[in-house]
Amino acid sequence: PVLVVDFGAQYAQLIARRVREAAVYSEIVPHTMPVSAMLAKKPAAIILSGGPSSVYAEGAPAVDPALFEAGVPVLGICYGFQAMAAALGGEVARTGLREYGGTDVEVCEAGVLLAGTPEQQNTWMSHGDAVRTAPEGFTVLATSEGAPVAAFEDTGRRLFGVQWHPEVKHSEHGQRVLEHFLYDGAGLAPTWTPGNVVAEQVAAIRAQVGDARVICGLSGGVDSSVAAALVNKAVGDQLTCVFVDHGLLRSGEAEQVEQDFVASTGVNLVVVDAAERFLAALAGVSDPETKRKIIGREFIRVFEDAARDVVAAAGAHGEDVKFLVQGTLYPDVVESGGGEGAANIKSHHNVGGLPDDLQFDLVEPLRTLFKDEVRAVGLELGVPEAIVWRQPFPGPGLGIRIVGEVTHERLETLRAADLIAREELTAAGLDREIWQCPVVLLADVRSVGVQGDGRTYGHPVVLRPVSSEDAMTADWTRVPYEVLARISTRITNEVAEVNRVTLDVTSKPPGTIEWE
Ligand code: XMP
Repeated sequence: PVLVVDFGAQYAQLIARRVREAAVYSEIVPHTMPVSAMLAKKPAAIILSGGPSSVYAEGAPAVDPALFEAGVPVLGICYGFQAMAAALGGEVARTGLREYGGTDVEVCEAGVLLAGTPEQQNTWMSHGDAVRTAPEGFTVLATSEGAPVAAFEDTGRRLFGVQWHPEVKHSEHGQRVLEHFLYDGAGLAPTWTPGNVVAEQVAAIRAQVGDARVICGLSGGVDSSVAAALVNKAVGDQLTCVFVDHGLLRSGEAEQVEQDFVASTGVNLVVVDAAERFLAALAGVSDPETKRKIIGREFIRVFEDAARDVVAAAGAHGEDVKFLVQGTLYPDVVESGGGEGAANIKSHHNVGGLPDDLQFDLVEPLRTLFKDEVRAVGLELGVPEAIVWRQPFPGPGLGIRIVGEVTHERLETLRAADLIAREELTAAGLDREIWQCPVVLLADVRSVGVQGDGRTYGHPVVLRPVSSEDAMTADWTRVPYEVLARISTRITNEVAEVNRVTLDVTSKPPGTIEWE
């Protein structure tokens, strides 16, 4: 792999993603890892990330010079660049000029790293210290006002560095700089393709599972679907998927799982239609947390029952169900410390606390993948686009998008309104711009309207289109007025119980994305 050494900035994951966008496999390691342990991973190249500190600050993470003597190509970025310069005898100093944000650099010698890029380029910087003189043997490639040495390389030792952040999209030609390092500097080939990922994972799953049986809970979301499709490709005959239909999905979603997903992958699927059970459990309840708890509890119970049936059926044939598939992604692994243990259990349907008679080992075929790679792998496996590109949808489903008690009629009303909103946003080409757009039914609110010659007394729905990177923060999406107008007209015309459409213009924080 290419190792991205994380010096504690928020950029390490981004660097790792950009390397993979260049079709080269990368892994993040903490800067506290000893060089011997890094080298034991047989890295094809190493990238030192940016970091928050000055190389001279007390406790600043230093770089062991042994790293540069192992013959492994190294690229230093920002703090990593300065740490490399300092470790190899260059001079790093406070220049008195801080550079933050868009900064022009002047290329004096393109070298390998900046080949084919313009003499003047705007880059994304964030530094107070600067490299004043390059270590011996290095060629200076670029300068900026605040950084006398803004990029350098020593092609003999295959050591490279840039003061700016090539992984940030605001750095013009940033991706090219990374690719020059990977392909030309380190001599790597772009082989990390979805096809190869599938082949590798299929082999790994077969090795882990042997001839034991495997169970997988499908939610209809991207991660569980792609994980199931991978395991299915590896050991399809040994896999049983369980889909609990809690009746709180949106229009067409259960069919997507039961028909389209099965048709395209051929998985063994057990469908549990538990809609009535969930509605009965939710009857008379309107408090959001109570609703969430009920839905979570019922979900686990239904899944456990189904899993027991699967285990019993296998047992009748003398077979053992030993494994449970989970759609854990690489960011979860990194954020929970990158260890080998089970990653954090995030939501209720990632069945965390299974009872003793239902203990399984985990199969986590997406553990090394970022979300965009999961999608690419899904497409490679023939998972339907509607699933691969599905926007986030909460486990408790429409149950937390009806403000008030959840009833069959209210679910039907919300499904109809939600479908119209999705159709129009898709038709307007906004799906990739919008992170997700909850449609919320204010079931306990009524307002007066007029339709034809008659007075109406119906419910409002709220459109909640948000843009986000990770759902931790979000802003309301500026959906064009014409699109909002079409959604509003269609919902009030086509959904009898709704006579008002409103738009939520609150960012997160202070609002959450969902209303409950
Ligand atoms: P909030 O409302 O907290 O939502 O801003 C952040 C993101 O999480 C989704 N969400 C959930 N996902 N189980 C899930 O799997 C849940 O209980 C749940 N609650 C919220 C929400 O749709 C948004 O993407």
